[in-house]
Amino acid sequence: MECSGKVTPQLMMAVGTAVIGSLQFGYNTGVINAPQIIIENFYNETWHSRFSEDISQTTLTALWSLSVAIFSVGGMLGSFSVGLFVNRFGRKNSMLMANVLAFIAAAFMGFSKLACSFEMLIIGRFIIGLYSGLSTGFVPLYVEEISPTSLRGALGTLHQLGVVIGILLAQVLGIEGVMGNSTLWPVLLSITLLPAVLQCILLPLCPESPRYLLINCNEESKARSILVKLRGTDEVSEDMHEMKEESQQMMREKKVTILELFRSPSYRQPIFVAIMLQLSQQLSGINAVFYYSTGIFHRAGVSQPVYATIGAGLVNVAFTVVSLFVVERMGRRPLHLIGLMGMAISAVFLTVAMALLDHFSWMSYISIVAIFSFVAFFEIGPGPIPWFIVAELFSQGPRPAAIAVAGFSNWSANFMVGMGFQYVELLCGPYVFIIFTVLLLGFFVFTYFKVPETKGRTFDEISAGFRQSAGHGADKYSAPEEFNTLRGEDPDL
Ligand code: GLC
Repeated sequence: MECSGKVTPQLMMAVGTAVIGSLQFGYNTGVINAPQIIIENFYNETWHSRFSEDISQTTLTALWSLSVAIFSVGGMLGSFSVGLFVNRFGRKNSMLMANVLAFIAAAFMGFSKLACSFEMLIIGRFIIGLYSGLSTGFVPLYVEEISPTSLRGALGTLHQLGVVIGILLAQVLGIEGVMGNSTLWPVLLSITLLPAVLQCILLPLCPESPRYLLINCNEESKARSILVKLRGTDEVSEDMHEMKEESQQMMREKKVTILELFRSPSYRQPIFVAIMLQLSQQLSGINAVFYYSTGIFHRAGVSQPVYATIGAGLVNVAFTVVSLFVVERMGRRPLHLIGLMGMAISAVFLTVAMALLDHFSWMSYISIVAIFSFVAFFEIGPGPIPWFIVAELFSQGPRPAAIAVAGFSNWSANFMVGMGFQYVELLCGPYVFIIFTVLLLGFFVFTYFKVPETKGRTFDEISAGFRQSAGHGADKYSAPEEFNTLRGEDPDL
């Protein structure tokens, strides 16, 4: 289908404003890494002032792990609640409302030192986790719904670009000479307020998703006039036609609840694919790097681990930009496959380098290169693609529920890696990344056989593909070849 794929100022303004939410998610993922020791000192001082004794190492470790991991607990709850908001309040208003959480979280974290309360910091981390969980649903949903078909992948990748820029920003601001010190750490944590203010100013100037207006609210003329602005042309009849087809399809479907996603044969296949893609993102081990890189570099014999961590952040941003430019040309499947295989190979190199470090000191350089290439391959596919592909795999009816389930899977796996990595590393020593290699190879095989290409297909065409393949046999999985040839086309790979 031919689509008007122009990048208009209105489209960029709307996408740019939405991805401020992604930046917040990234910032709060990365912010807690560098100032760990300094904030732990604050926990100790607070403990001392209350109980007139030093905090024990066990309590301190437990409190710190809680402060880090409660962010993902908030994320799990937030992402699971996406469906409660987006259909009731609309996409744009949901994003606007979520900022209340960012303000509250910033206040809790910013005043925790003044109030001598580590509890406030932990509550703040939970609330910003809730916000981030909502954002990982709201942003890809909105961006995918307002983008022309031919640009959905590139614009969807901007969500991940927001995340990685947020991580890098947190890494740089967290350097001791900037804000990662005993005086300024409350500012470092509460600065999350600024993007929230910016988003509250800009969002009212952005349009509601025309797809939501037409399909959910039946407001055809409003939807059309927004589309005209977003596409920069009066000729929007093809987009309108496609949305109407999706709307008719939705009327034939019952209201899609989360349970329904698993019961109905035509949704079971895409929801399984969506969950597996989220797991492939998190169980690749990426956050073992982003939460614990400083320690990993340290053990790998790197003399300036903080700067190596920032190096990883820079590689992270650079390769997200690469993905942005190639995703519409190469498609989702090849990039995801290349990314997973590249990560698996990098993880093998990292393991060899760590295991041989005692014999050859230059192995520390190999481990830097291996971690950088691990991160680079992640951003080629497994970083950006799972976030936006869920919106592509479903039509308007089941989309919010599917995004909630996928987001919940992602955040749960994120929590597992965040909590478990250090313990598993104690058990496995330098061989810990072998576990990720095995998982990565498993996800490679799954992607090869089960994930269809979505590039250049309208939402309606994609879900029709799944409906037809479900019709071939309710419980039978169709390989992507079958999925694609159902539409009379050759598979892309
Ligand atoms: C993805 C992941 C996130 C990770 C980030 C790293 O957005 O969802 O957990 O920290 O990529 O760039």
